[in-house]
Amino acid sequence: MGEKITLHDSASGKTLELPIIEGTEGPGVFDISSVYRELGYFTLDPGFQSTASCRSAVTFIDGEKGVLLYRGYPVDQLAEKSSFLRVAYLLLYGELPTDEEHAAFVDEFRHYNMIKESLLKRFYEGFYHDAHPMAIMVGVVGSLSAFYHDSTDIHNVEHRKMAAYRLIAKMPTIAAACYKHCIGEPAVYPDNSLSYAGNVLHMMFSLPTEKYVVNPVAEKALDRIFILHADHEQNASTSTVRLAGSSQANPFACIASGIAALWGPAHGGANEAVLNMLEEIGDPSNIPKFIAKAKDKKDPFRLMGFGHRVYKNYDPRAKLIRETCHEVLDELGSKDDPLFEVALALEEAALKDEYFIERNLYPNVDFYSGLIYKAIGIPTNMFTVMFAIARTTGWVAQWMEMISEPNQRIGRPRQLYVGEKKRDL
Ligand code: SDX
Repeated sequence: MGEKITLHDSASGKTLELPIIEGTEGPGVFDISSVYRELGYFTLDPGFQSTASCRSAVTFIDGEKGVLLYRGYPVDQLAEKSSFLRVAYLLLYGELPTDEEHAAFVDEFRHYNMIKESLLKRFYEGFYHDAHPMAIMVGVVGSLSAFYHDSTDIHNVEHRKMAAYRLIAKMPTIAAACYKHCIGEPAVYPDNSLSYAGNVLHMMFSLPTEKYVVNPVAEKALDRIFILHADHEQNASTSTVRLAGSSQANPFACIASGIAALWGPAHGGANEAVLNMLEEIGDPSNIPKFIAKAKDKKDPFRLMGFGHRVYKNYDPRAKLIRETCHEVLDELGSKDDPLFEVALALEEAALKDEYFIERNLYPNVDFYSGLIYKAIGIPTNMFTVMFAIARTTGWVAQWMEMISEPNQRIGRPRQLYVGEKKRDL
């Protein structure tokens, strides 16, 4: 007989035994869905520190050991040996593609990476040039269901696949068009002779007057960063996508909700906040002042790019991005970037400081990524857009997993009510 958790309510004398369910890796769970029916209580877990929202086979994180697996493969091995679209196939289908499967997958994307001309020419024009690219991104992605009615029926497997491919394929085109709109340059169409990451650079930096030659160092760095950002279990934005998906909203609306959630500086917006913080620090001599601010409970300032809900060890992605940062800055000739010097000094100071050590606060995925984006020539306000391009694959893979579950139910949390008792007007 399997192990159990026994809940005993001393008020009613009732006892409830809940079987422990083990997964293939990580902590087991006990299903509490019967607690309200059997004991009359809700469970409370603000921030979901101890709550699993679903079963998933896509990604696994061991926060204590600093391990991240995509469909069982360590992310560092995939970053070293694979490519973003092969990893996207892995996340969607559970296995890495054969060369033939990969070629067919890439070819399918070539037919989906354009966006409707009226979207490109008229929708974007409604935004002022000083709009934040993430604000444009949320609006444009949310509007896709208005253009692609033939892939919004979530009960149709073909529709689901088409929507998934359209979202992953179009994200770079949409993102680059956001950037071009903000700088007042004409949008650039995808070039199907280029890689996924190469096309992002081409569509951002090509001009009608001169062809942009994709820099292989930048292309490889961007492909690796996309792999490292592709998925990450049930983080805030993925949980938002799943909750929106549980209401049977169309996939474009669900991904738009994920983009909105990612934007926050506590989540995907941190990479932009890290660069702004490093610029504000300006010089390693100012680091003690900022570390003191981060430790001061009366000061809302936190060290951007540090800490993580799950990793209580070094974020494995941060380690890989730090190495890539060294390579890119060396090869692109920006190794003397003063901000990189500040970042290294800040990391060194924080990792020695008792406050950060006792709270297991290490650099996370966002701490170094912005320095690479900056060295490639990507502006700070586009950093979270880059994150959204990569995470769209994870959001879509998680949405596909959820929507194909039998007896899928709407997510509807309860609450502890602390408001007024019933009263008459
Ligand atoms: C991402 O969930 C994911 O998987 C996200 C992500 C993904 O791939 O999807 O990994 C991507 O979002 C990475 C995180 C990017 N955000 C930041 O870098 C912003 C700065 N970090 C913090 O805001 C914070 O660390 C969070 C939001 C990342 C985690 O917050 P938690 O788990 O709620 O931690 P907490 O607020 O409970 O902090 C625990 C303690 C507190 O101090 P005490 O009350 O115990 O005295 O640590 C302190 C916090 O004040 N703390 C920090 C800190 N992070 C936590 N103090 C200073 N600077 C920080 N960055």
